[in-house]
Amino acid sequence: MILIPIPDSFLNELVDRNDIVDVVSSYVRLSKKSGSNLFGLCPFHSEKTPSFSVSPDKQIYHCFGCGKGGGVINFIMEIENLSFRDAVEFLARRVNMTVPEEANDRESQKRSRMLALNKEAARFFYTQLSTPGGEEARRYMAQRRIGPATAKNFGVGYAPDSWESLRNAMRDKGFSDQELFEAGLVRRGKTSGFYDTFRKRLMFPVIDVRGNVIGFSGRILGDGEPKYMNSPETLVFNKSQNLFALNLAKKSKSGYIILSEGNIDVVSLHQAGFDSAVASLGTSLTPEQARLLSRYTGEVIIAYDNDGAGVKAAQRAIGILEKLDLKVKVLALTGAKDPDEFIKLRGPDAFRKLLEGSEDQVDYRLRAVREKYDLSSDEQKVAFLKEASELLARLPGAVERQVYAMRVAELASVKAEAVTDEVERRRKRLLGRARQEQKRAQEQPERQMQPEDRALRYDDPASAAAEQGLIRLLYLEPELSRTDGLPAPEDFSSSALADIYRAVLDKARRGEAISAATLGSSLSSGEMNLLVQLLQQPETLAHGERALTDYINRIRERREQKAGADDLRQLSEKLRQKKGYKG
Ligand code: UTP
Ligand code: MN
Repeated sequence: MILIPIPDSFLNELVDRNDIVDVVSSYVRLSKKSGSNLFGLCPFHSEKTPSFSVSPDKQIYHCFGCGKGGGVINFIMEIENLSFRDAVEFLARRVNMTVPEEANDRESQKRSRMLALNKEAARFFYTQLSTPGGEEARRYMAQRRIGPATAKNFGVGYAPDSWESLRNAMRDKGFSDQELFEAGLVRRGKTSGFYDTFRKRLMFPVIDVRGNVIGFSGRILGDGEPKYMNSPETLVFNKSQNLFALNLAKKSKSGYIILSEGNIDVVSLHQAGFDSAVASLGTSLTPEQARLLSRYTGEVIIAYDNDGAGVKAAQRAIGILEKLDLKVKVLALTGAKDPDEFIKLRGPDAFRKLLEGSEDQVDYRLRAVREKYDLSSDEQKVAFLKEASELLARLPGAVERQVYAMRVAELASVKAEAVTDEVERRRKRLLGRARQEQKRAQEQPERQMQPEDRALRYDDPASAAAEQGLIRLLYLEPELSRTDGLPAPEDFSSSALADIYRAVLDKARRGEAISAATLGSSLSSGEMNLLVQLLQQPETLAHGERALTDYINRIRERREQKAGADDLRQLSEKLRQKKGYKG
């Protein structure tokens, strides 16, 4: 299919009708702070104090923490993980517009083919369960007590004990080996041909929040290695950004999400009526997964396995979740190795009690610290107080710090004030250190102005500063593009800035509207972030022409200096070779 660019006129209307504040507000809680900008917690990185800003005037967003920024289209690309065209379609649907022409690029076409294939594959696995060949799988499910309604709810299926039953079925549906291969459903044989990846396994489709089957997780029937086989990373499957069963859990009315480790735990929890259970896909919880969770809930209850690995994983997950302002509790499983076993042994009511009594994360961590020490020894008591105070010093709420300080004091049978004072002293030190770091960062303006994206770093910050200024001026006043003696993009020291400059200059000269939205199609996402970052710096048109001349001169000077230095280097290189110096 030919790639037909989406006309700017359409993009402009699309952007007009999708007010950035409205769009962002459905993902981020925004509040007014200073000036006309709105602030909120950045959805793209973990933070506790808002550094994500949205400008209703400029219709752009920018995070001072992670550097991400752009217009409304970039925002959707970033947060929904969509290509430019998919993001445009997404926004078009939102306001009932139709994207003109066949606005479908090859990648999004490939993506939708892969999703169609996955859906067919899931259907195939599901039907295999009720064939005679599915007998062993049915027996295994009965043994694990997974009922038919649950199987249907999750789309649990069976990959037959065969080398190419899926392959043949999908080829009959018109999918090629190449497509099957790219979806991770077949593998390439050593000598020739392709064979089914999943054989003789209980199949759990992984379904994203939009209802797409993005991959599979296949459990062996019974014991054996590997216990699970998962789809590889594909165009549509990214393990670190998805959670098993979130498609179901997001509809739960429970007000919290239960985070467990295993697919079987999740299935078993849902079957017992706990419809908000999810699991990370065989990895420890990632920040992306945590952010995804935070879109659907304000509280996460961790129900990991009752073993050393589970405790460790829980502690790591707490750290990630609490950065996102999520309320975190940890379930104290006892007498069972995991939620699945607990429910089977003790029943749903006992599990519900457990949920109600689940500890909040501070309690949990305090208990972990408490258990490390023998408080009858004075020496260990001091060590305990130290570690506990350090833990409490990091709590953001003063009341919280106070309450827990009292509990610690009780545990160690010392005076409450002693602990409170210690905690506050440590907190001051922590804050002081943070402030110093911030100051240090501010004192290095050159480092500050470097792009967040390391790949785009400036070799020549002095020239880059002028290049940035030039771009800002053109953005503010496109008329300046008619000025004589403007440098060519090739004269720029930074190729990323050159790309931005080229795009801005091009639009300005053609008299077209310049906005983050219309530039989106010609810039990479790294460049878009950079553009928005540099637009944050003050620039005034009051002395526009003067500034323009200054910038132009500075770029030229740096360029000449560099050319001179290069010549010199070449010259000395030649000399060196002549004299026969080595290396
Ligand atoms: P578990 O071994 O706890 O599996 O691994 P489980 O789902 O609870 O199964 P049962 O109850 O022991 O039968 C937890 C998760 O880790 C991933 C899977 O997502 C699994 O659900 N995992 C485990 C793998 O990806 N590969 C493996 O080989 C094992
Ligand atoms: Mn398990």
